[in-house]
Amino acid sequence: MTRQEHKIRDGNAVEVRGLVKHFGDTKAVDGVDLDVPEGTVLGVLGPNGAGKTTLVRCLSTLLVPDAGTAVVAGYDVVRQPRQLRRTIGLTGQYASVDEKLSGWENLYMIGRLLDLPRKEARARADAMLERFSLTDAAKRAAATYSGGMRRRLDLAASMIGRPSVLYLDEPTTGLDPRTRNEVWDEVKRMVAEGSTVLLTTQYMEEAEQLAHDLTVIDRGKIIAEGRVNELKAKVGGRTLQIRPSDPGELNRMVGALAQAGLDGVGGATADMEEGLVNVPIVSDEQLTAVIGLLGERGFTIAGIDTHLPSLDEVFLAITGQKTSTPENSTHDKALEEVAA
Ligand SMILES: Nc1ncnc2c1ncn2[C@@H]1O[C@H](COP(=O)(O)OP(=O)(O)OP(=O)(O)O)[C@@H](O)[C@H]1O
Ligand SMILES: [Mg+2]
Repeated sequence: MTRQEHKIRDGNAVEVRGLVKHFGDTKAVDGVDLDVPEGTVLGVLGPNGAGKTTLVRCLSTLLVPDAGTAVVAGYDVVRQPRQLRRTIGLTGQYASVDEKLSGWENLYMIGRLLDLPRKEARARADAMLERFSLTDAAKRAAATYSGGMRRRLDLAASMIGRPSVLYLDEPTTGLDPRTRNEVWDEVKRMVAEGSTVLLTTQYMEEAEQLAHDLTVIDRGKIIAEGRVNELKAKVGGRTLQIRPSDPGELNRMVGALAQAGLDGVGGATADMEEGLVNVPIVSDEQLTAVIGLLGERGFTIAGIDTHLPSLDEVFLAITGQKTSTPENSTHDKALEEVAA
């Protein structure tokens, strides 16, 4: 196959064009285009088997794509794999630490493999263990670490070379909330220091916390992309939530809105339990008119809020599928492994 010179656009740390990777009949990655501007985080969202890990593996030279081009940090993934490997960091879905070595030895070894001088490798190993709350376990063999500790060590290892592009493949799956927050803080710190991150996740909150832009993939294809808020707005639209001072007026409020034709697509509904009227909003004009009408009709309003759909709802709307839980993901993989 002949590959055309892929000229990267200024300011993009990752640029992917028409990337394809098939396994037999499985179109794991089926023509993907991506742009990740320097210093930003792209969230890649998709259900089990969507092709997220395959994409990351192609972009980190662990798999050779069947077609398409990808340039990362200025290096072509197929033609310049050695240079590329020195500028990227990767945290896989499954931690890849050396079990026989201690946490500190794992980090020191990777530092040395990245050609850091001994002193620097030592200092960074210490610093990363500290950052990920592993100092107390630094001298113990990684084999004795809990799942969460291994994952943290794996993250520390991917960051030790201060990579300019970092791939995080479901970095916090299986972590407790406190550790998850630690990881998020570290990712934010890396980005603040100028790194570019490609993050796959099944946690909506994670995408909202970290990602500037979002790409949703399903069966190897991009099915939606944009800013986190754009995507949310595009799919579900807003809901106006009105809380009348008198909860007894919920139904009368819904009736008034319907009568005036201001109840949006699908109609306004009364939520008796929460004491709210929910109105689907299609335009700012409708929003303004709703508020105006309620005032004219003498309703007293205790509170109003607009609510954007969650990424879960976005996903459901785009794919007609619920996003799978990370627990399922791990479980499915374990079953696949047993079956293999
Ligand atoms: N080495 C392989 N050989 C054969 N098929 C593969 C291989 N790796 C992945 N696949 C298939 O390619 C598809 C995409 O898998 P991939 O692991 O990229 O999905 P994913 O989005 O990372 O899923 P998950 O959320 O479960 O991690 C799946 O159908 C998977 O079974
Ligand atoms: Mg995966």
